[in-house]
Amino acid sequence: MKIKILTQFPDMFGPVFGESILGRAAENGILDIDVVNIRDYTKDKHRKTDDSPYGGGAGMVMTPQPAFDALSAVGAEGKRVLYMSPRGRILDHALAQSLAAEEEFVILCGHYEGVDQRIIDAWRMEEVSIGDYILSGGELAAMVLVDTVARLIPGVLGNENSGNEESVYSGLLEYDQYTKPREYGGLSVPEVLFNGNHELIHLWQFENSLRLTKQRRQDLLEKYLANHKILTKKEKKILDNVLSEPPKLEDED
Ligand code: ADE
Repeated sequence: MKIKILTQFPDMFGPVFGESILGRAAENGILDIDVVNIRDYTKDKHRKTDDSPYGGGAGMVMTPQPAFDALSAVGAEGKRVLYMSPRGRILDHALAQSLAAEEEFVILCGHYEGVDQRIIDAWRMEEVSIGDYILSGGELAAMVLVDTVARLIPGVLGNENSGNEESVYSGLLEYDQYTKPREYGGLSVPEVLFNGNHELIHLWQFENSLRLTKQRRQDLLEKYLANHKILTKKEKKILDNVLSEPPKLEDED
């Protein structure tokens, strides 16, 4: 997959994209990320890429010329172009999946007060937000988006399954995880995880996921229930049990 990222701060990306899962995906040729400096395309003699907003107000707005030229140069025509912005659709698993199916897409990162609206309109950009808070620029948001999309590309995760079982993907929050040692400072691991009975372990994980989701994310639980997942008899019994329990108070954890 090819991703072109247009930014005024290209140096922010190197450390993140060179490490861990993203770094390995790039080395293996699965992911080809091209970070493009918008400033390289400005025709302004002071290399400016932004200006004060018409109508007044604080901050600076990205001017059309460098953005249009950079978008043309990376071949954004006809491709999905995302603009990272707190006004956008909230990034979720469904959006990440739809992007993971693309061969190539483009991301524009804005800074300060944003970009001239003509850039967004003319390039039919999809505005994408990573949450209801304001970052100082779209760069961190673009890194979050690329990371979550990359994990869904076949071959990027060493273990093909580990992307599938996690939180939100299955519709429930992920169950608690434990590793060695079995005892640490008097703290132990739930007994069920040692009995070798995979069905019992699965049922414990399912119950744990359900409880967490009910406690923390009522919205996800409602979606999960509306999706009418096919459950075994034992799973159904656990689900009914958890649903019939009175809600836990915040400080009971
Ligand atoms: N730019 C500034 N804040 C943002 C956010 N929450 N999501 C995406 N891009 C942003």
